[in-house]
Amino acid sequence: MPRRALTLVASGFSRPMALGVLIVLMSMPGEAQYSKKTLVAHRGASAYAPEHTLVAYQLAIKQGADFVEQDLAVTKDGVLICLHDASLERTTNVEELFPGRVSTQTIEGKTRKAWLANDFTLAEIKTLDAGSWFDQKFAGERVPTFDEAIAVIRGKAGIFPELKTPEIYAGRDVKFEEMVAAALDKNGLRGPKADVKTPVILQTFGQPSARKLAQIKIGVPVVLLLGSAEGFATADAVKAWKGVVQGFGPAKQIVLKNPDFVKWAHAEGMTVTPYTFRASDPGTFKDVTAEMSHYLYTLGVDAVFTDNPDKFPRK
Ligand code: G3P
Ligand code: CA
Repeated sequence: MPRRALTLVASGFSRPMALGVLIVLMSMPGEAQYSKKTLVAHRGASAYAPEHTLVAYQLAIKQGADFVEQDLAVTKDGVLICLHDASLERTTNVEELFPGRVSTQTIEGKTRKAWLANDFTLAEIKTLDAGSWFDQKFAGERVPTFDEAIAVIRGKAGIFPELKTPEIYAGRDVKFEEMVAAALDKNGLRGPKADVKTPVILQTFGQPSARKLAQIKIGVPVVLLLGSAEGFATADAVKAWKGVVQGFGPAKQIVLKNPDFVKWAHAEGMTVTPYTFRASDPGTFKDVTAEMSHYLYTLGVDAVFTDNPDKFPRK
């Protein structure tokens, strides 16, 4: 009997019923990742607590997140940490504590002064305050390691790590994809004995990184993020990624402008998880709940990334 069906038996289903439920789940678009409309807490409950801190992750779980997102970076001494930006200055007091460690970097096509996370050891990063920039009441929050994030979330929600700015690491001989695979192994989150209560979905904007994950047989679903529709304006372009990734994470406007994108992906058994839904900017909708509802139940996307997990519309 498949492991997923055995899990259903353990949850109280009879064996025939469990197999039936499994067949229904398997026939749903995007079955590889989701069995229902799914809430991904973007950087944790980041509307209410400083992004990528343990307190933001804990609040996301409290607010009902199915998955909690981490953006991953790599320290100078080779540790995976949770940080959205490639550099530390927006969300920590690195500028104050390490004024002399600034350098000029070209990040995502823009050249600027930056305190690149990859130039700092974990011990140095752990001295930084990652909460005060958001609100003084969060003073003293730290940048978590990926392992610390997993420890807080495991068993309560899935994790949805993004391999952030992989191009930086490609130029520095850091094997980012292999490091993520090793972290999942160390934490028992992939392979035949993976923890079923802590599903994992990886995501990246980096097309070479997505291909690398497929090449190393990462064994968990991978979502390719799309900042624009360029290169993804036809059903054939979407189909070309079948077997490489298991879903797409488009900027939400891509789906709004072209609802067929969802049909194209579903026709190939791939999921659609648009980003980012924020109460502070619901666009032309009356509020963010109405906005997410339109995407989930009218346009048919499978899941959403939101800063406001408490506003997610469950039917
Ligand atoms: O990962 C989905 C979404 O988070 C992509 O945007 O910039 O918030 O990582 P960003
Ligand atoms: Ca992200």
